[in-house]
Amino acid sequence: MSCGPPIGETRPVVAARPGTRVFAGTVVGDVMDVVTTIADLRAALAPARARGAAVGFVPTMGYLHDGHLTLARWARRDAEVAVASIFVNPTQFGPDEDFSTYPRDLERDRALLADVGIDLLFAPSVEEMYPTPLRTFVEVPHLSSILLGAMRPGHFRGVATVVAKLFGIVQPSRAYFGEKDYQQVMVIRRMVQDLSLPVEIVPVPTVRDADGLALSSRNVYLTADQRRAALRLNQALAEAKTAVERGITNPAALEDHVSRFIAEEPLAKIDLVAVRDADTLADPGDQLPDRILVQLFVRFGRAQLLDHIVIPRPDGGGR
Ligand code: PAF
Repeated sequence: MSCGPPIGETRPVVAARPGTRVFAGTVVGDVMDVVTTIADLRAALAPARARGAAVGFVPTMGYLHDGHLTLARWARRDAEVAVASIFVNPTQFGPDEDFSTYPRDLERDRALLADVGIDLLFAPSVEEMYPTPLRTFVEVPHLSSILLGAMRPGHFRGVATVVAKLFGIVQPSRAYFGEKDYQQVMVIRRMVQDLSLPVEIVPVPTVRDADGLALSSRNVYLTADQRRAALRLNQALAEAKTAVERGITNPAALEDHVSRFIAEEPLAKIDLVAVRDADTLADPGDQLPDRILVQLFVRFGRAQLLDHIVIPRPDGGGR
């Protein structure tokens, strides 16, 4: 088991598989199997597993954008068998959150994944994943209760539990997650490390639109004005980097500087601007850490958007 590189310093995945795409002993071309039950998924993967093929896995909640497809491309390039899942997981949504209205389009997603060359799509129902009320949960204390976890109590418990369950079902050798959800990657890595799960977590850099907006399935909630206003986030991260490079040294001052910059945009409602240690998510106190995480949670209309940057401390943090 390896935990891979630090998030924010991801190295490219080395292509490891030969040109011809073979799945379960058959050349599959752009054909992709879709299974909806755990039994069918296991049966479909059994031949690949028997010959020791590396399985790359991309768990998603669907409504795919190029960020997801980048994960899928990495999995495709890296593993002999590439599996994706689409499951809008109810246990990671709070009672007042958007589970029922979360955007869904399985047919479109299926075509996109087939295009990228994913071999197998697992798209279970809620009943298949949770046939009886869940009595076992995976908790990653502390990491799950700070930042986004403080705003969405229970969210990371739901994420860790479903990801552990998906890992148990798919048994991948590598799993790919977007760095955009920085805290989620930290939580999952910690879970994998603590439970000695035999899977490498591969963080994939955030994919942005040409104008800088980080891709998110929830961008679909934005009106044209809100979308334009949301560009402030990426600009705020650039502003944070400039402030650090120009010598700001106090984390609270950096948070304040970035918050003021975002607040100049009238459509932005700041939930949280946080400066943290990028390796631990710890509050750095009055000294910037070696790797500075600037994490933004900002609402535009009904969409809470997340974005972040990791900035190395210019003086190298005394190392
Ligand atoms: O990032 C997501 O889309 C979800 O949190 C995940 C990892 C698929 C678990 O439901």
